[in-house]
Amino acid sequence: MIDKVLGILKQNKGKYISGEKISDDIGVTRAAVWKHINSLREQGYIIKSSPNKGYILVSSPDILVPYEIKDNLNTSVIGKNIIYHKSVDSTNNVLKRMINTEECKQGTVAIAEQQTEGRGRLGRCWMSPAYKGIWMSILLKPEIKTSEAPFLTLASAVAVAEAIRDITELKATIKWPNDIIINGKKVCGILTEVNGELDMVNYVIIGIGINANVEHDDFPEELIEKATSLKNEKGEDVCRAHIARKVIEGIEINYRKFHVEQGRIDIVDRCKKLSATIGKQIRVNGYNDSYYGEAVDIDYQGRLVVKKEDGSIERLISGEISVRGLDGYV
Ligand code: BTN
Repeated sequence: MIDKVLGILKQNKGKYISGEKISDDIGVTRAAVWKHINSLREQGYIIKSSPNKGYILVSSPDILVPYEIKDNLNTSVIGKNIIYHKSVDSTNNVLKRMINTEECKQGTVAIAEQQTEGRGRLGRCWMSPAYKGIWMSILLKPEIKTSEAPFLTLASAVAVAEAIRDITELKATIKWPNDIIINGKKVCGILTEVNGELDMVNYVIIGIGINANVEHDDFPEELIEKATSLKNEKGEDVCRAHIARKVIEGIEINYRKFHVEQGRIDIVDRCKKLSATIGKQIRVNGYNDSYYGEAVDIDYQGRLVVKKEDGSIERLISGEISVRGLDGYV
């Protein structure tokens, strides 16, 4: 009901609407309307009221509640179901805990204002301060082999980089396979978690962390040189809900493309254009050893093509690399 009240106020932006009209439109009492208006105010919506004219929405807060994200969201699967938390351990965990429940359909999004145990790749922590970032996870259930799942990270990275470019005009680039970089520093990371057998995926969780309005001083000493936020780079606050919506829309488009060969080719071509990796000297960081080479291409399976120092070619399906000149690696 609260989203219906908000919906009506938004439709009538700039105009007063009477409590009676709202209650008639959504079929609740005027007292219930008043209650919902007050909870919206508590969430930060500025709603003026006048005894004769009714209510008027003056401004909305930048919060990631489902009705803000769903407002004008142009998708048919991703984001139809949104699970929202003010504070939670990790949005990837939210989806994992719900995986076998009715509610957890393909396209479900878990989003939080704050994560207390945000996780990065390779068991690292992911700093997720309250109301400053976009910490969200998307559940997908593609009928694919497990070996194809890393492509979804790339498809998501392309959607994130393009959304950032569209909305902020910042030159977001992709450090293969899962980092978004602006001016040499990381602004977003993607943690893809796959569940399945060798030849069949059960589900994939795409966890996306975007440092939207994180302040310079929020980053710990060891990250200052490597990490940044959209706010830092742009010099002003960005609207998190707007970016989240654009990312979700982009991922849905890319997810559809992912299912057809020509679509995958298109995603890789866009990824190459946005790449912060191709043509660079890199270090491939393996579990036991690492080696150096040049990143020469991304093939149409989404693999990074590396020319090793001895001239031989390796194709990485996923993995951890350092790019010379980027994120602190010299
Ligand atoms: C990385 O670069 O190491 C990946 C970082 C992924 C962070 C996101 S925030 C939302 C989701 N929940 C998590 O705990 N992690 C991912």
